[in-house]
Amino acid sequence: MFSKNIVLVGFMGSGKTTISRQIAQHLGCPVCSLDDMIEQEEGASISRIFTEKGEAYFRQVEYRVAQKAAKEKGVVIDCGGGIVLNPDNITVLKKNGIVFFLDADERSVFERVKDQTHRPLLNVPDPLARIKELIGVRRPLYQRAADHIILTSGDQWKTACDQILKLAGVA
Ligand code: S3P
Repeated sequence: MFSKNIVLVGFMGSGKTTISRQIAQHLGCPVCSLDDMIEQEEGASISRIFTEKGEAYFRQVEYRVAQKAAKEKGVVIDCGGGIVLNPDNITVLKKNGIVFFLDADERSVFERVKDQTHRPLLNVPDPLARIKELIGVRRPLYQRAADHIILTSGDQWKTACDQILKLAGVA
């Protein structure tokens, strides 16, 4: 068994949720989804939190749940795509966690999210342009946060779980 957490960061649609479940199933450990924790704490969906209280409020709740999740041991932490916007989130998650940046290109992200409606930041007339803009800003932040970078464009995501288990020393 491992005592460190496996922390997945990356843009929306980079495969965090699918891959965190695969890892957890393999290790028989829990997944800690920060988005789920936020929704539970607020008793509202992420879309509703954004609409009714705004993004700044959402980021405060995200900070609080990141502090809470970082106290866990031996879990997989599935972070929302904006976790890197506050460097304090990464500092605390790294205390007992290995951070993996799931790096998917803009086109792959677009293909995966284009028919979904639950991500308020992408509910815009030109989601591909928004994806490009946000990834442009965030990629350096993900890179800085990462202990390891795992490529998840196209079909690459299929080998991500194995790579992460090996790099975390738990394969
Ligand atoms: C966000 C990503 C979402 C969610 C919220 C904001 C972001 O999580 O936290 O909609 O800023 O990139 P996923 O990356 O799991 O979709």
